[in-house]
Amino acid sequence: MEAARWDRLAGDYQRVFESGISEYNRRLLDFLLSSGMLYPGCKVLDVGCGVGKYGTYFAALGCDVTLTDISGEMLRRAEENLRPFTAPWRTVVGDFETLEPSLLSPSGPHDLVISTMSPAVHDMATVKKLSSLSRDWCLLTNFVSWRQPLRDRFYTALGFDPVLSLAGGLDSLASLEKLVEQAGYEPHVRYENYNWQDERSAEEAARYLIRRHPAMDKEDPELFKRALEVAAGLCNEKGIFPDRVFTRVAWLSWKTKKED
Ligand SMILES: C[S@@+](CC[C@H](N)C(=O)[O-])C[C@H]1O[C@@H](n2cnc3c(N)ncnc32)[C@H](O)[C@@H]1O
Repeated sequence: MEAARWDRLAGDYQRVFESGISEYNRRLLDFLLSSGMLYPGCKVLDVGCGVGKYGTYFAALGCDVTLTDISGEMLRRAEENLRPFTAPWRTVVGDFETLEPSLLSPSGPHDLVISTMSPAVHDMATVKKLSSLSRDWCLLTNFVSWRQPLRDRFYTALGFDPVLSLAGGLDSLASLEKLVEQAGYEPHVRYENYNWQDERSAEEAARYLIRRHPAMDKEDPELFKRALEVAAGLCNEKGIFPDRVFTRVAWLSWKTKKED
């Protein structure tokens, strides 16, 4: 069920990937590089990698890259995106919670293990599993606040709860920070703004927003018709649905290597 939901969203993630690396992505990569967590040739594991957006950057740096995701469709696209790179890379499909750790690190632990905006790491067992796969650094990112004014108007007009359209729980980062500490590591948290605007036609917006909402029936023609009307009513004078999202993101990192 979970995998099927993510499979459905893979095309949207691919479009974001094809639009190029964003200013926010660049900020995160610069942080990893400048803090020494990431460097050319290091071994990196990306859990819940999506279509491999960060994976392609790691491969361009000449890293040894392992990408894993619960969604076969995300990984199929990740493989296409990674194909041009000569650096060693591999993909492993499965739920992070139950995947055999040896499949994720066949040649020993990684230098950096990341999981960005993914529910894959969500409790003590998965925090410990992530940590055990790294011999140096782990990094998790997640949203801590999210505003989506136009999407809220769209969902509310159709009688659906806008909150359900959010990818993950907004309170998860604080509890993950505690879990990292309880697991015996020192958590470091940094907060960053991450805002964006996507421009879609009314039809694209209606399809996109229905796809994102778990309670909306993707096959219901009546719902699509109403959604199209609502989206058209929210478009600007150019016929564009200007979908602005304002978020704050936390970057939670910890060192797994004990200092002497
Ligand atoms: C919001 S997307 C983020 C993708 C990518 N990390 C990024 O930052 O663009 C969340 C990803 O986590 C994956 N995912 C969700 N639950 C997972 C699990 N239990 N194990 C592995 N991957 C999972 C989804 O398939 C999806 O690709």
